[in-house]
Amino acid sequence: MDEGGTPPIRPSASLGTTFPARGKEDPGLAARCANAVAPQDDEGAGLRQPALDGQAPFVAIENASYRYRPAGPPIVDGIDWAIPRGAIHCLLGRSGCGKTTLLKLAAGLLLPSGGAIRIGGAALGGPDPRIGFVFQTPTLLDWLSALDNVLLPVSLKRRPRAADREAARERLALVGLGDLAERRPPELSGGQQSRVALARALMGEPDLLLFDEPFAALDAITREELQDDLLRLCALRGSTALFVTHDIAEAVYLGDRVAVMAAGRIVHAQDLDLPRPRPHGLRYDPAFAAACRTLRGAMDGAG
Ligand SMILES: Nc1ncnc2c1ncn2[C@@H]1O[C@H](COP(=O)(O)OP(=O)(O)OP(=O)(O)O)[C@@H](O)[C@H]1O
Ligand SMILES: [Mg+2]
Repeated sequence: MDEGGTPPIRPSASLGTTFPARGKEDPGLAARCANAVAPQDDEGAGLRQPALDGQAPFVAIENASYRYRPAGPPIVDGIDWAIPRGAIHCLLGRSGCGKTTLLKLAAGLLLPSGGAIRIGGAALGGPDPRIGFVFQTPTLLDWLSALDNVLLPVSLKRRPRAADREAARERLALVGLGDLAERRPPELSGGQQSRVALARALMGEPDLLLFDEPFAALDAITREELQDDLLRLCALRGSTALFVTHDIAEAVYLGDRVAVMAAGRIVHAQDLDLPRPRPHGLRYDPAFAAACRTLRGAMDGAG
């Protein structure tokens, strides 16, 4: 690799890199799902976080608030949230409740009006190369190839080197698009475009991935495939992730912890103790349905 080029993806030894073949039944699933909804569901203000074993959380959102106008209402209103390194947390909430605004704060794209955001213990003062952001729409440039779209974070800063192109190809292969690197976005399906956006977010080898409803426009089957791809990539790289979605089942399938937001506040949060890697058939397990039902109740209660 060229000196200073984009580093290759590092497999995470701690999280392992092997996954069961899709389509295989898992006879132990029901037993392992028995306690899928952890007992400490919390309601209202002062939500407790899971134990962090004495370690500082990787992402710490500390009493964060945000107003778009100084005299306007708080869109994010005193949120506390801690994400341990390597965890996937999901955020559910109705349209307009402030999810994207909170995600932009976590990305350093907006700075909090009050409180602080810390990543790896350091206060976030702006966009940070340790953070990758995947938007709701793939936001690809139609006149560039898939490869050049993945290279964009590099080419906006400097001329890409051979090692960068190699790293971009590697990331496209990781999301299953190794053969389509030269295609332009109009020649790709919606799901393939979402994969290009995911590959692009991985270019800086970010420690934290932020997702803003990236699969909302896709059909159910493609969306489930991309959810599995996302989980595989996060496990492979040991990534920490915060995933915003409207879809309760998506949040339960992806998350170690799911929070519900309403009117700028977290009104409910629960840990999910479902097995990882997610077994085939999990979505049809009673424990999965129970977790979805609890979250639906929390969303309905939030108005
Ligand atoms: N740049 C802005 N200037 C002023 N108000 C804004 C701005 N962006 C968002 N808002 C307002 O802040 C509130 C929260 O918006 P936000 O985009 O965070 O909601 P959301 O939960 O992501 O909604 P959705 O699910 O529809 O994406 C909305 O009332 C919105 O109109
Ligand atoms: Mg939004």
